[in-house]
Amino acid sequence: MEPYIVDAQEKFTNLLKAQLERVERMKKQEDFIQYDQLDTIVIGIVGGDGIGPSITHQAQRILEFLLKDEVEKGKIHFKEITGCTIENRAKVGKAIPDDVMEELKECHVILKGPTTTPRKGDRWPNIESANVAMRKELDLFANVRPVKVPELGIDWTFYRENTEGAYVLGSEGFHVTEDLAMDFKVITTQGVERIARAAFEFARKNGKKKVTVVTKANVVKTTDGKFLDICKEVAKEYPEIEMDDWYIDIMTAKLIDEKRRTQFQVFILPNLYGDILTDEAAEFQGGVGTAGSANIGKRYAMFEAIHGSAPRMVEEGRDKYADPCSIIRAAAMLLAHIGYTEKADQLTKALDICTVTEKKLTITGRDTGATSEEFADYIMETIQSL
Ligand code: IPM
Ligand code: MG
Repeated sequence: MEPYIVDAQEKFTNLLKAQLERVERMKKQEDFIQYDQLDTIVIGIVGGDGIGPSITHQAQRILEFLLKDEVEKGKIHFKEITGCTIENRAKVGKAIPDDVMEELKECHVILKGPTTTPRKGDRWPNIESANVAMRKELDLFANVRPVKVPELGIDWTFYRENTEGAYVLGSEGFHVTEDLAMDFKVITTQGVERIARAAFEFARKNGKKKVTVVTKANVVKTTDGKFLDICKEVAKEYPEIEMDDWYIDIMTAKLIDEKRRTQFQVFILPNLYGDILTDEAAEFQGGVGTAGSANIGKRYAMFEAIHGSAPRMVEEGRDKYADPCSIIRAAAMLLAHIGYTEKADQLTKALDICTVTEKKLTITGRDTGATSEEFADYIMETIQSL
């Protein structure tokens, strides 16, 4: 046999072993952590890179303001984690340095600013994305992304599978020969069951009538086919909810079909389709900068802004003018997730007042607009006046 085939086979064997071990870990997984049963909930604050530390700090101030009593009583503890920067990650050549990973694991929930994802040809080594690594390592399988535009009748919640699909081996494909490159897509029974169940449970608790599964199962028959089949199985446990399924290409079109799009409520998608469709969806709401994103697992959960780290703003000294609204929205999702729904509602309401209805301050990203600190103050004043 040609040596490159032997070499490729060995690499593939190792990938299979690692994925089968992951399946075994999923089988043994316990149920979701109960925050009300913890003495102290540890909230990790990860600034990230670029404008990240600046905007995340503002979100932290708001959380500290809303959780003042809980912090005094010892029910909540904030833990700042500063080492998750692109400089540190590049230095150790790892998506997340080991000491940072240890600190992350001491938290229950994490608020995370944007982290730079290197790509081939830029000035950083081409290490794996910190987002992707964190989702994998902390097993944050459900990427929940709500998009609401009331005036257009849009109220969507996306359940994007976050630990499998095209992403899980995204940094582990290989060049078999000079001419042949291979990447891998992975779908497991356990992985689909848990994301499907999370989406249907959300639908049931929130009185949603329809769940839409998006794949390309007509072409990518094995993995997307399995994804769809398992979603159909899980749907049988929720007879009061209608399930329909669409292919990703026509789904991207239907999101701009004004008559059709208002009928969708909850979506379940494999990782990459979820990545793409949620950016499209966020655009109706005002762009990715307006959306927050929850990454939920059974033991850990991480909440983040879905925009990038805008290094140019920092180079030009404009980071203090960066828009903190996406990470503040993520902070509201964090509050709701750990059980402080009333505080989460207050924060969401204040955000809507400050960014849509009242808009006393505007953020322009430069000195022609408010600073992130002024905007955070405005949000806190608005909360007080509710
Ligand atoms: C997202 C982002 C990430 C992803 C990038 C930064 C790796 O686009 O959270 O949607 O592709 O998941
Ligand atoms: Mg994305």
